Formats: sequence, structure tokens, C-alpha cells
Amino acid sequence: MAGATAAATLAAHRDWWRESVVYQVYVPSFADADGDGMGDLRGITDRLAHVADLGADAVWLTPFYRSPLADGGYDVADYRQVDPRHGTLDDFRALLARARELGLRTIVDIVPNHCSERHPWFAEALASPPGSAARDRFIFRDGTGPDGAQPPADWQSKFGGPAWTRVPDGQWYMHIFAAEQPDLNWENPEVVAEFEAVLRFWLDLGVDGFRIDVAHGMRKDLVPPLRNTYGGDSASLNSPPSGENHPFWDRDEVHEIYRCWRKITDSYAPPRIMVAEAGVSAARLPLYTRPDELHQAFNFFHLRCPWDAGSFRDVIDSSLAGAAANGALPTWVLSNHDVVRHRTRYAVPEGTSLPGWLLTGGREPAADEDRGRRRARAAALLTLALPGTTYLYQGEELGLPEVADLPEDALRDPMWERTGHTRKGRDGCRVPLPWTRTGSSYGFGPGGSWLPQPEGWGAYSVEAQTGTPGSFLELYRTALTLRRRYLGDETFTWLPSAPGELAFRKAGAGPSGGAAGLECRINLSAEPIPLPEGAELLLSSDDLTSSHTNTRLLPPDTAAWLNTTPHP
Ligand code: BGC
Repeated sequence: MAGATAAATLAAHRDWWRESVVYQVYVPSFADADGDGMGDLRGITDRLAHVADLGADAVWLTPFYRSPLADGGYDVADYRQVDPRHGTLDDFRALLARARELGLRTIVDIVPNHCSERHPWFAEALASPPGSAARDRFIFRDGTGPDGAQPPADWQSKFGGPAWTRVPDGQWYMHIFAAEQPDLNWENPEVVAEFEAVLRFWLDLGVDGFRIDVAHGMRKDLVPPLRNTYGGDSASLNSPPSGENHPFWDRDEVHEIYRCWRKITDSYAPPRIMVAEAGVSAARLPLYTRPDELHQAFNFFHLRCPWDAGSFRDVIDSSLAGAAANGALPTWVLSNHDVVRHRTRYAVPEGTSLPGWLLTGGREPAADEDRGRRRARAAALLTLALPGTTYLYQGEELGLPEVADLPEDALRDPMWERTGHTRKGRDGCRVPLPWTRTGSSYGFGPGGSWLPQPEGWGAYSVEAQTGTPGSFLELYRTALTLRRRYLGDETFTWLPSAPGELAFRKAGAGPSGGAAGLECRINLSAEPIPLPEGAELLLSSDDLTSSHTNTRLLPPDTAAWLNTTPHP
């Protein structure tokens, strides 16, 4: 899209976020302009046309703030500065300007539950005595047991081990994640005020919205004595908390924060948006998107859904109903930087424990690569046909698999150390993108790459797939272009379907204003299924076959889009 037209389109749609495609850039791994092996903002700016050409509406950038990178930047030492390894604030301004020129909106990540142990507040807390104002910005407590040598409660870190670390004067501080990520005390007014100021800082620079990290974790039940209700192991990210009134997950008080934040984002013209990363139950997720709170919440139920027609139908129905309760539309996510890439999830036998499989270097049990490829393509068409916003994770448009055999000494995810080497963690989905068939780090940058890229990575590159019929990239490009035609009145209807098949119709305003209907059919059974006669085939995730009577057949693990626009 040409610059001027793109900018005009950007201004025109206040509610762009209801039905859009947001492309997640994992900053360390997208593109590296300065050759230090670590992705940076200039690299992103240089490569942003790829996201616009794909047909996305917005980019979400994972944290690029000053950070020791103990957890890929989700450990922020300065919320108003860019980490030198990722660039400068001027680089960020240039990125925003380039995004605008390309017609892309920009969403940044905000990490309010915890900061880095290198944040000046934490240094001040460590240098101050128990009970001081500096310690009250965090959650410091005395230990239990005769000499206070036991943690204050049995709360466990998401990355393994206790959620408490002891400091030299004997007190303990709380961290839901790594010890390098102390949790902030959201009952402290200074913390509340600081984040309001941080939001305004980025809004004033011109961002279009925020992704809220761990949106369900900020408020804790700190009434003494702390409750020992947690117990079990919860090292897997994004799993719903076990129940209500949990001491730190999904507490009702967290919503007060969002009501205040919504006033801030609404005070900008046009209003800016917020999306929650909240691993809560389907029943409680809509609470985060009430009209005076956040605009959207990630839908991890879709991501976790087994490959089965009934399960997908249930997830789709409950997601639509949950969002509709707030007059909203759902979001759809298949992958992100915290989970095994979906191409690989669909390739391993159903029921496989992914952490265990990763420990075998992805060898045991054997993955069915072709099945993973087919299902990933079919899932993309299913997902992109649904009403609402799809969040794409960088590299899924290239069909990247998980790199399951990263050498142990290359692993950077804090989960690996914190679990005593029993969980490899999330590095396998974070391997830097291949842009070119060959060359230094396959076009990621002029130097190496912070995680090793596997041999042959260039075969997945943007260069190798551009213009190649049947490639993942061309499938995504075509799907995103077609999708735009069917945005509009947000109507969704289930259609009669064969056992193991899902079929629905989505209506929109159509390219020239008339009614347009997109019918999506996906075959999740083991047998080919006849497609309805007559309808025009717009796109299929793999080739169709035909029966002996010449009926078009939808093979297993395949999806098709049909045009059901009535002829004038
Ligand atoms: C982010 C993770 C991060 C964690 C702690 C998550 O939900 O997506 O990558 O490790 O929050 O900030």
C-alpha cells in the first residue's frame, strides 16, 4: 500500500483492532542491523515491508527496553529507554514512522507485574532496611521457621523452584518468574503512578496500543499470614490457575488497574488499545475485556485445542460467546514466543508431553513432519476465517518448525536452569528468522545469531518462499488478501458438515460494498470429504482431490475457502 493511502486508512478506522491481523515481532530474533547477533529496532525497520506485504494491520513488538535480558527482555531495568543491544529511542521513532508509512499500527509490550533486579528501585530496596518505603515497592517478607530460613509461603515460580529468594539481611522477596524478576507491589501508590506515567510516555511517542504481560498477576493477597495454597508445580506457561481466590493469580482487584488504564488510553485521539495476556479460565477471561477495561485478551484455548472437530467447535463457540458478552470479538492465536511452534505441535503424536519430547532433542517419539505441515496450513485458514483478530507469531508465515535439538550450552531460557535441566524451555521457537537462502545467519544480520540456526534454515527463508507456488508464505499472503474482502458485518454461521468436518460462513461487506460470503471448510477426519457443488474455490491449504464421479474432495488435514457471494 502506498504511504499516503496507508496513512489515510490508518486514520479512518477507529475500531481497526476488532478484526485485524497483528504480527508479533520477537525483537531479539527478527532482524539484526548492527551485526552483534541480537535483533534490533533498525533491523526491524529495514524488514518491516515484509509484514506490510504479508497483509498484516499491525505489529506487536516484544520488550526492547533496557534490560539484562535474563528473560528475553521481560526483565525491564528502565521502562523509558531502549536497550543498547536493541538500539536507541531515535531508532524507535524511526520504526514508528516507517510503520505508519507502510500502513501498520504499532503495539508495544508493557511488563507491569515485575521489573528487573537491575531496576534502580530494586537496588534501592536492597540497600534499604526491612519495612522501608523502598522495600514496599516490592513484596519483601520475613521467612518462616525458627530462624526465618523457610520462604514466607509455598508459592512456586512459573519457571520452577520457589517464588521467593532470600537477601543477605534474611528477608525474602517474591518473584512469580525468575529471581531476576522481582514482583512489584501494586498496593503501593508509587507503583501505580509510575506505570500510568510509563503508559503516557509511550502513548506520547505515538504507539497505537499495549500488550499487557501477565495481566492476571499483578494483585496479590498480601493479608498476613500469607496463604499456603499453591503447592503444586506450575512450570508450564499460560496454564489457567487452579481456582478462584488464588493468592496471586487472577484476583478481582487487578481489574481496578485496567479501569484506570482505560481512561488513559481513551484520552488519546484516536483511542489506543490494550490486549491482555491472561492465562485464566474461559469463564473469567471476558472480565478482562469489559467495556471499561482492556480491548482484547489472547485466546489460548484455540492454541491448546486438540486436533478434533468437536473440540474446535466448542472453543470457537465459547470464544465467540465470551467476547459477545462485552460486544466484542475474540482473538485467535496459534503460536507465540512461549510455546512450541504449532507446526511441530501438530507433528508429534497426540498426547505427547512436549517438555519431555524436547529433552530428547525432538527425537522420541518421532514427529510426522508432513502431518505437521498439512495441519499448520489448514489451521491457518481456519483461524484467519474466524471473526475477530488473529495474532500471528513471526515465522509461522514461513512454516517454521520448533528447533528441538538446540545444544544445551546454547539455551538461554531461565527455565532451563531453574528446573535443574528438566525443562529446556522456549528457545526452540525463538531461533532468529531466515530471510535469505544462504549468507551470514541466513539474512538475519551481518554477524552471527544469538541462538544457533539449524543447517538448512535458509530453505524456509522469505527469499526461498517468495513467489514459490504452494509455499507457506504465499498461502499466508493470499489468505490475508482474501480475508480483507470478508471483513464487515461480523456475521458467523455454522453450516451443516460431515462427521469430523467443520464448516462455517462468514459474511462481510464485500469488495464493492455488496454482500460477500466466505465459507471455510476444514477436514479434521481421516477420510476425504466431498465439497459442496458449485461454489467457487478461493483457496485451499493443500491440493484437493476428486472422486471417481469427479466430485471435488477435501483431503484429511486440509482446509478450503469457498466464495458464497450471491450472484447479482
Ligand atoms: C511472557 C514470557 C515471560 C513472562 C514473564 C510471559 O507471559 O510472554 O515470555 O517470560 O511473561 O514476564
